[in-house]
Amino acid sequence: MNIVMVGSGYVGLVSGACFADFGHNVTCVDKDVGKIDALKAGRIPIFEPGLAEIVAKNMKSGQLAFTTELNEAAAAADAVFIAVGTPSRRGDGHADLSYVHEAAREIARAVKGFTVVVTKSTVPVGTGDDVERIIGETNKDADIAVASNPEFLREGAAISDFKRPDRIVVGTDDPRARQVMNEIYRPLFINASPMMFTTRRTAELIKYAGNAFLAMKITFINEIADLCERVGADVQEVARGIGSDNRIGSKFLHAGPGYGGSCFPKDTLALVKTAQDHDAPLRLIETTVAVNDQRKRAMARKIISAMGGDVRGKTIAILGLTFKPNTDDMRESPALSIVQTLQDAGAVIRAYDPEGMEQAKPLMPDVAFCKNPYEAAKDAAAIALVTEWDQFRALDFKRLKKAVATPLLVDLRNVYRPDEVSRHGFTIVGVGRKA
Ligand code: UDX
Repeated sequence: MNIVMVGSGYVGLVSGACFADFGHNVTCVDKDVGKIDALKAGRIPIFEPGLAEIVAKNMKSGQLAFTTELNEAAAAADAVFIAVGTPSRRGDGHADLSYVHEAAREIARAVKGFTVVVTKSTVPVGTGDDVERIIGETNKDADIAVASNPEFLREGAAISDFKRPDRIVVGTDDPRARQVMNEIYRPLFINASPMMFTTRRTAELIKYAGNAFLAMKITFINEIADLCERVGADVQEVARGIGSDNRIGSKFLHAGPGYGGSCFPKDTLALVKTAQDHDAPLRLIETTVAVNDQRKRAMARKIISAMGGDVRGKTIAILGLTFKPNTDDMRESPALSIVQTLQDAGAVIRAYDPEGMEQAKPLMPDVAFCKNPYEAAKDAAAIALVTEWDQFRALDFKRLKKAVATPLLVDLRNVYRPDEVSRHGFTIVGVGRKA
């Protein structure tokens, strides 16, 4: 199949590279000349394990190409995927669809012969109808069907999520479009990944409802963690105890500093707005959004209170800045609010992150970025573990002890058991368990 990806950001690049790896001919298009030039030269603009290798291999074999010119590629395409950004619109939290609409207009002018136009960007319910209308208005001769095919990739595990998905959701009533989508995903049938065909609106809602549910699940366990601290229970055991009930499931019950990233914060907000507009408010999700927002600053207050309540002039080492491990993505990372709140209270921040520091630097003024955890810990009155990178799972506490001013670890991801740390003379404060 000939496939075009419009938008070579996270979703477009991962999806395009994986489709090419399945043997399809893929052209990734982006307006950003610098990004396309970099990709052509083999430089990957994001950190995603395994992606660089797949891109290089498929560029070499000719399955994958990059361009700023949509027309030629779209004319030969069986399917054109829209994978452009849908940021939160300033002011009201609605998804900003201007890039999607613009892509639809350009696709309308470029396609030749029957083409499936597939929205992969996360878009509010009804956007597929808009895309269809815009294409029809721009080029009444365009022979297209518009399908919704949401992605469920997690950053840091995107390649395996793409190649071994729990399910593939395709929203379209058009039999020709179903056939093309079946062909495109045929390579996954060997993994027995179920393909689910729905209406377009249903597919659009599945994506938002899925992300909102996961965000709610995380927020639930975070609130239970707070209660555990008050009543002297252990949230990890509560999570294990409830998670082994099949109806609940054990995943996404890890208490921490609140969810961040490019999807959950934006998608929960957009779903809340859509629901309000349709007079079917989602109060659970409204509350989820509010609780998660407050939680990030509450984590800074937790650090401050572990340090005795006054942090003015004291040094705090922050280990981990990205919203989760195995990404360099700083979008909506809890570390942003935590560091800001600590600085507002007068603390001096030293920080280390394995991949995120380049992205973090412009967002975090007055932070001393360090070469490793031990340099960050120099003279620190507390170490706060904010992101659970693998390399923070076996820290050398003897070395840390020599570096710090006070041996105090605030472990916001519950990486360490208290006994492991206390034998090195450290006091540990975790999330959702007794100090
Ligand atoms: C998410 C969805 O998982 C994915 O299906 C969707 O396509 C995009 O959004 P991603 O944002 O990459 O993926 O990260 P994810 O692994 O889901 O984590 C999101 C946030 O929740 C992170 O900040 C993470 O630290 C936090 N989290 C996750 C928890 O705090 N506890 C958990 O148990 C799980």
